[in-house]
Amino acid sequence: APLKSLSTMATPAVARYLVAATNARDARDALAWASREGLPVQVVGGGSNLIFCDDFPGLVLHMALKGRHWASVDGDSATLVLAAGENWHQAVLYAAGAGYRGLENLALIPGTAGAAPVQNIGAYGVELSDTFVGLTAWDRHAAETVELSAEACRFGYRDSLFKHEADRYLILELRLALSRSRPYVLGYGELAQWFDGSEPSSPMAVAEAVMAVRRRKLPDPSQLPNTGSFFKNPVVSLEQWQALQDQWPEMVAYPTEDGVKLAAGWLIDQCGWKGYRNRTVGVHHHQALVLVNHSSGTGADVLALARRIRDDVWERYGVTLEMEPGVVPSGCGLAPPA
Ligand code: EPU
Repeated sequence: APLKSLSTMATPAVARYLVAATNARDARDALAWASREGLPVQVVGGGSNLIFCDDFPGLVLHMALKGRHWASVDGDSATLVLAAGENWHQAVLYAAGAGYRGLENLALIPGTAGAAPVQNIGAYGVELSDTFVGLTAWDRHAAETVELSAEACRFGYRDSLFKHEADRYLILELRLALSRSRPYVLGYGELAQWFDGSEPSSPMAVAEAVMAVRRRKLPDPSQLPNTGSFFKNPVVSLEQWQALQDQWPEMVAYPTEDGVKLAAGWLIDQCGWKGYRNRTVGVHHHQALVLVNHSSGTGADVLALARRIRDDVWERYGVTLEMEPGVVPSGCGLAPPA
């Protein structure tokens, strides 16, 4: 089965088997079948955070479970329950439209609800983990349904348990705690400018501002295939940051709990890559952190470009960029810099 339409980078590849599961039982049955056949399995949601770079010799399981509802509505607070296959952006609009706050900064992030915890999606000062309560998953090792709390999911910056135990949990449903009165998060420069100190009229107004800001810089994958930020923003020690700043006083960075987070987009931009393109792939002209597929680029084309960028940044700044999306099959990612 062709996989091109299952990844927003739209690179060509073929899976030996493809199953689209619309309920938990079908998903479990497909996994059990693959394990009896000794086949590797790749789970896919909206495909906005993975790159197919070769044919997949096993089962691709497309999580298409639908459903959303409110649970435990209590005064100002309510829990939004989302099935794994729900479109993330539609869920954000649904919550904001109902007057609940907490997800509005995460508008227009491509992909599904079930994929959101894997990389702890984040934008404009908010991460999924800020509203996350828990999720239901199928534990493939124990062959049972489990409930995982926020703590158990070990969320970090673009990181979670699910990146470290990649083949263990099949996320089925998540629960998010929203509220009609929690404060908006408007600290990010362009959002702060947008509202200019005034209180937004509704969570939908914030979602709309976020959508406008994103549309200025980030290409719509349906128009120009991409997987959002291609690298994580690297975190360096305070010492390394001081040395870098002495040499490049303009370098963009933000303090975090574990060190200083550098703007990878700035590093790549400074190396002259913004707007670069070859015959098939390139670097977005408004955001150097986003690699795009102009026409019929393959996974190998994307990774070859990524390697050149990563090596340039390493040579110039001594900083290693780590890829953000996953690669399928898993062996074909970037080797560490020489
Ligand atoms: N910058 C440049 N040149 C560029 C791109 C960025 O100089 O080509 C500078 C900007 O001027 C700014 C800084 O780098 O000072 C940061 O840029 P931006 O605000 O665009 O955010 P980012 O750090 O590049 C991160 C997330 C995005 C998220 C935005 C907004 C990561 C890897 N990326 O990007 O997430 O939308 O912040 O919160 O953390 C994604 O994960 O796919 C994604 C799009």
